[in-house]
Order: sequence, then C-alpha cells, then structure tokens
Amino acid sequence: MSSPKIWTHKGTFLLAAVGSAVGLGNLWRFPYLTGENGGGAFILIYALTITLVGIPILIAESLLGRASRKSPIMGMQYLTKSHNTSRGWRAIGWMGAFAAFIILSFYSVIAGWAIHYAGLMFSGSMVGADADTISQSFGALLASPGLLLIYHTLFILASGLIVGLGIHKGIESGLRFMMPALFVILMIVLGYGIIAGDAGAAMRFLFTFNLSDLSLEGWLQAMGQSFFTLSLGMGAIMAYGAYMSSEASLTRTAISIAFVDTAIALLAGIAIFSLVFGSGLEASQGPGLMFVTLPIAFSELPAGWLIGGVFFILVIGAALTSAISLVEPVAAYLVERFGMSRPVAVGIMIVLCWLLGLLTVFSFNIWSEDSFSHQLFGRSPFDVLEFITNIMMPLGGLLIALFAGWALSRKEVMREMSTNENWFHIWQFLVRFVAPTAVAFVFLRTIPQIDG
Ligand code: PFF
Ligand code: NA
Repeated sequence: MSSPKIWTHKGTFLLAAVGSAVGLGNLWRFPYLTGENGGGAFILIYALTITLVGIPILIAESLLGRASRKSPIMGMQYLTKSHNTSRGWRAIGWMGAFAAFIILSFYSVIAGWAIHYAGLMFSGSMVGADADTISQSFGALLASPGLLLIYHTLFILASGLIVGLGIHKGIESGLRFMMPALFVILMIVLGYGIIAGDAGAAMRFLFTFNLSDLSLEGWLQAMGQSFFTLSLGMGAIMAYGAYMSSEASLTRTAISIAFVDTAIALLAGIAIFSLVFGSGLEASQGPGLMFVTLPIAFSELPAGWLIGGVFFILVIGAALTSAISLVEPVAAYLVERFGMSRPVAVGIMIVLCWLLGLLTVFSFNIWSEDSFSHQLFGRSPFDVLEFITNIMMPLGGLLIALFAGWALSRKEVMREMSTNENWFHIWQFLVRFVAPTAVAFVFLRTIPQIDG
C-alpha cells in the first residue's frame, strides 16, 4: 500500500476549502438573494444558519474525509465497514458524487457568462451604453446556444486541466497563485465601489433589519444558501479533507472557512450594492443583478470598463477554484477504484458534466419559457437541476450530520477533533439535534413544491 496523499502544508486544506467555498455563491447568489429577501433580515438568519448548521456540518464532513483518507465513495465504504454500521450510510458518498455532477454542469455554464462579460467590459463596448441595450445584450447571450456552449467548454476544460495536473502540481499550485490574486481584485473593486458608489446606502441596506421582513421563504433560502456557499453535502469538502494534515485543527479550520466565506460575501455585497445604489438602481433584480444591473452601473462610471472587466475576472477565478473541488471527488474515486490514471479519470468526469451542461445551455433558448417542452413540464431543465441540488445538498448534509453524530464512536471523533470536552459536547448536540431539525424543516417546505 502506498502512503496516503497529503497536502504539502498544514494550512493547505484551509486554502483549498476556502477556494471551494468562495465562488458564484458569494459573488452572484448571495447578493441577489439578499436583495430579494429584504437585506438585513436575510443576513441575520443567514448568519444564524451558518453558525448553527453550517459550521457543525463542515466539521463533520472534513472529519469523515480525514478519518478515512479516501475519496468520498470509498471513504464511506471504509468507515461503515470499520464501524460495523449500516451500509445505507454509503449513500452519502454516492449522492455526493451525483450532486457534484449536476452542480458542476450548471455552475460551468453560469461561470461562462462571466467570461462573456469580462470580454464585453475590456473591449469597451459597454461604455456609455444605456440600460435597455445592456439588458438586451444579456438576453442575446442567453438566446445563443453557440456562445453559451463555447464558454461552457472553455470553463470546464480549465477546471479539468487544473485537477488533471494532480493535487500538488495542479490544485495546490493553482490555488496558491489564484487565491491571493482574487483577494487583491476584490479589494480593488471594493475600494472603487466605496469611492464611486454609495457605500452608505449599501451598508444601510445590508445591516439594518426589520423584524417584519423575516419570512419563512427567507429562512428556506438562507438554509439552502448556507449549504451551497460552504460547499457542503456533496463530497467536495470530504475529498479535500482526505488530504488534510493530521495536525490541523478541525474546529478552528471550519470556523475560519465559514468566517472567510461570509466576510467575502459581505464585502462583495457592499461593493455591488454601493455601485448599484450609487447609480440609482434597484436592489431586487434577481439573478440579473450581476449580469444586467451591475454592468449598467459600470457603463456610467469613470474607468467602469476596466474595473468591470477586472470584477468579472474575479468571478471567473472564484468559480474556477470552486469547480475544481467538484471534479476532485469523482476523479479521485475513479483513480482509487479502477486504477485509472488521473488525466483519464478527470477526462471522463468533465466530458459527462459537459454533456449534462447542455441541458442548462438549452434551458435559456430552445427550451425556454415559451417553448413546447417548457409548457409540457412547466419548468426548464435548469430549474429541475437546481431544484434537485436544493434537495440533495441539505439531504447529504443531514446524513453527514447524523452519521458523524450517531454512528461514529466517540473515541474516533475525539481523536480527530482533539478539542476540549465542552466544544465536543456543543458540536455533538448541534449535529445530533439542531442541524437535523433545521434540515427536516426545510424539507417539509421544499418537497411539496415538486408538484407545483
Ligand atoms: N461553494 C461554492 C459557491 O459558493 O459558489 C459552490 C459549490 C462548490 C458548491 C463546490 C458545492 C461544491 F461542492
Ligand atoms: Na460560497
């Protein structure tokens, strides 16, 4: 047996997990969900679900990875065998791999939009354009399957290339270069947003809450977003955790990941809403916030094309560091289970995801709202894929919490956690009772939507 593969440094897991966590969820989804759900009220419940549900499951998922030192599917086989527990728990590994396919397939298409917008910004073609032209150009992009396909292909190839180079030469080196660069860009865009936009209005919007704005819908969205933003429940964190140094602290690392991820979502929110409000635009624009409202703001501002272009580079880079964490668990499984070479395993994963991505590509044109198939099924394939992941991520998280909380022996958990008794008891209470209750609550509300 060869010795298990480990990251080069004690802190690399933190870097890799932050790379996975920080992505479209922070820059694209968090700001528009906040806009749709009343600003501060949403942020308050989001912070609560991150703390009480997100962090404990993050600890549990990295623990499962490190305790098994295998890819999620093989790791769950190993853990169920060595603990003599039900084989049913192996579903955690399989469901994670399945969900990783689905998420990567649409994540890549949306990241592709950012490639298009980086080009539009740098070419200067948006300078001084009016709002109608800009929103029509987004419509034109979505209407073109050819363009969407080119960007989707480019993006998924780039993620495959990085993972194909291996966990050290590809993932680690890539992250060591990209993460600091992304942070610098975020600071530039934030500084620009504060100077050129209305930071006061942005802060008021994000940090003052009306308790009357708290809606049940908001709770559900916040819970779903907590899983998505922390990359939970789909094997990404487990796969990276398998390479984690035995010396690193699980609790401290998980808290740091959640803190950085939340801080970046908030900083991105401040930057985006400063620009949006500074240009007299509205917050609640849905998914078009990044691709319509924000470009309108950039088109009017001095050097907006440059900062706008740099901003979309940030979006592409952040999405790339997340996408690679979706390729890794499946590729590592194929290598471990079938002895494939890494490039072949990665090739299989990305070709399948590329094909599945066609469903999303066509959802915005051939199968969009007024098409026959849309009328037939009442929703686009993209809506269906998103809906499936909205179920699978919390379900995966729920099973991870239950497995780590109830099936693993206290001895094993204590060995991995090496923390004091009090923290252990708090964590155990959260994964045994609080997180499962919260997730069950989401399901009771989400499942009835299947027929609606
Ligand atoms: N956490 C990523 C984001 O916020 O954009 C999305 C994601 C990446 C989800 C990897 C799940 C995952 F396994
Ligand atoms: Na995130």
